[in-house]
Formats: sequence, structure tokens, C-alpha cells
Amino acid sequence: MSKWTDTSVTRNLGIAYPIVQGPFGRGGSTALLTATVSNLGGLGSFGANEFSPQDILKVAADIRKLTDKPFGMNLWVSTYDSNGDSLDQETYDRVVNLLTPYYRELGVNPPPKPSGTARNFDDQVAALIEAAPAVFSFVFGIPSPEILRACRSKGIVTVGGASTVEEAAVLEDAGADMVVASGMEAGGHRTSFLKPYDSATLMGTFALVPQVADRVRLPVIAAGGIADGRGMAAALTLGADAVQIGTAFFACEESGATKLHRDLLFRAEARHTGLTRTFTGRYARGLYNRFAQEMKANESLLAMYPAQSWIVAPLRTAALEQGRADLVGLWAGQSASLVRHRKADELFASLIRETNELLESPFSTTI
Ligand SMILES: Cc1cc2nc3c(=O)[nH]c(=O)nc-3n(C[C@H](O)[C@H](O)[C@H](O)COP(=O)(O)O)c2cc1C
Repeated sequence: MSKWTDTSVTRNLGIAYPIVQGPFGRGGSTALLTATVSNLGGLGSFGANEFSPQDILKVAADIRKLTDKPFGMNLWVSTYDSNGDSLDQETYDRVVNLLTPYYRELGVNPPPKPSGTARNFDDQVAALIEAAPAVFSFVFGIPSPEILRACRSKGIVTVGGASTVEEAAVLEDAGADMVVASGMEAGGHRTSFLKPYDSATLMGTFALVPQVADRVRLPVIAAGGIADGRGMAAALTLGADAVQIGTAFFACEESGATKLHRDLLFRAEARHTGLTRTFTGRYARGLYNRFAQEMKANESLLAMYPAQSWIVAPLRTAALEQGRADLVGLWAGQSASLVRHRKADELFASLIRETNELLESPFSTTI
């Protein structure tokens, strides 16, 4: 029986524990949280999908001021959906019409027709390769062979996000080094890239992880619904080589969560999460608040990613200013009501203690 901490992920990354702190986009990541988790012996990760190339370089330097341990940086390979990188007048009018009652309620004007542009992945990834974190994790697609080769030659381990067995298989065929098998329980965006809008492909972590482990030879990192040692021991027993934990780390005070968001994760509201396109145009799991519920019937009328988020932006800013949790997207996974800890070191220590109790008992034969 080998010790549960000795896995292909801990060996390949040179980390002490098979615990990855999930990356958070949209200001949710901080250099402090990333470095704290890496210093504790896990892999801290920074979500940089909305960052400019300059900011990617800067944040990597900031993290290195706080740790000399391996850490990961995360980008989204596809930065917009078809028709999502611009807005035609008809879509703009239709969505503004749907949102007008909410603009009025919060006392803000609809934005003028946004002419924003989606981030350029090639520019971002060039900066990331220059920054050379130990790990480049990516979701919503597969980088080109040139990019994966450039990472390999710089010693950057590539970790691709899969939400189905098929996605894990194509990531392996493309030459990724590891795969995150992410069940639909997970907080934040559903990172599917083969059939993103097909509900028949929604898989839970318990079914997904063993099937991915059977299908690919790559190290598998399980994500979605894991918030304590029970979930971690279960994931390792199902064939995962590490876990990626998002919501429980996001609740810790070192994350970039707003106070409103963090406090809600410790309250009864955290029991109800749902997948919605309302806030950005792509499916994401968050607290299933009034806005998500009321917009459900209109989902097919919304703009695509990220144009939808440009139209929603004034609502988001106003709702946060006014403390209106009913009208802003607040990502959280189904594990939200399992969240107990407000400090990353306490969460980390309890994960290790509880997993030890379950997997290191003299009667345990699972690992
Ligand atoms: C607020 C928030 C933002 C997230 N942003 C990203 C992101 O930018 N990139 C990514 O790969 N995963 C992102 N995720 C997913 C997490 O990294 C992690 O895989 C997921 O939360 C694991 O499931 P759990 O929430 O059940 O622990 C985000 C999750 C949350 C809660």
C-alpha cells in the first residue's frame, strides 16, 4: 500500500500533496492565495483569463515574490463563442429589452452598444510561456501543437480541462501532460469544448473520474464537489491522482472573493446552485439567485460569450455596490454548503488530516 500523497501528480510536479487549488478568473485569484497553497505543499493556481499579457507577466512576478514553489497559471483557449466577440444591433436591442427592468431596479442605464473585444489567447499564452510557471492549465479547448511544444521545451507542464471522457481522450491525443476531469458539480464555468451546449454530456464527478482514469494514461486530477477529506479520499479511490478544489478555497479570506460573495458561501443560500448562461453567455454554476431563475425562460434569447457579459456589466457593478446578491453572478459549486474554513492553511490542514484518517487507517486496502 503506497502512501496516498505519492501519486503521478505529486511526483511529476514535485509537490508534497495531491491538492490543486483551482484557478479563479475575474479577480477571484490572488497572488497571495496561489503562493499560500504552493507554500503549504499543494499547487496554487492563478486564473489569468481576463488578463493582458503585461498583467500575466506582472502577476507571475508577484507570485514569485511570495513563493519559490511550483504554481500554475490558467487561461481559456477559446476566448469567445461564435457571434460572441461582437454585438449586432438586433441582439443588443433584444437583450437590453430583457434586462431593462433590472437596470431600472438598480437605477442604472443600459450600456451603449458595447464594442468590446475578446481577449487574444495567442498574446496571453506567449506571455504565460515567457513567465514560465511550473504548470499551464487551460480550459475551453486545446492549444495548438506549437504552443504545447513550446511549453514542453520550457519545462511547463500542460494540464487540460475535460468535462467528458471524450474531451479527456482528445487532450491526451493532442499531447497534454495531465487532465483535470471536472464534473458538473464544479463552481464557475462549465469548461466543455466538444459539445458545450449539449445537456446530455453533463457528467457528475463520481461517474466521470473513474471513466477518465480508465480511458487515458495521463495523470488525472478530479474536480467538482470536493471540499473535504471525504471527497478527496473518494476521488483518489476512484482513480484520480490529485484533486482540484475550487469553491472551498474561494471561500478563504486569501482569495479575491468579494465580501458579499464569501459571506453567502457560509449561509443557507449556498445550498442552491445552478448552471446558467445569464451572466456571461456561457454556462456557469453559481448561487441560483433571483436573476438566474427569472432569466431561465429567456436563455435562448441571450447573447453569446462574452458579449452577454458586456451587456450585464453595469448590472454587475451596481449590484455589487448595492449589496444585491439577487442580481449578480456569484459562482459556487454544489459543495458550497460543505465549506467550513475561512483560512487556506486551515482548509489545507483539515484536508490532509481527514484524508489521512480515511486512507492511512491500518484496515484501509484501497490505495
Ligand atoms: C469563482 C470561480 C471562478 C473560477 N474560474 C475558473 C477559471 O478561470 N478557469 C478554470 O479553469 N476554472 C475556474 N473555476 C473552476 C475551479 O478552478 C475548479 O475547477 C472548480 O471550482 C472545482 O469544483 P468545486 O467548485 O466543486 O471545488 C472557477 C471556479 C470558481 C468557484
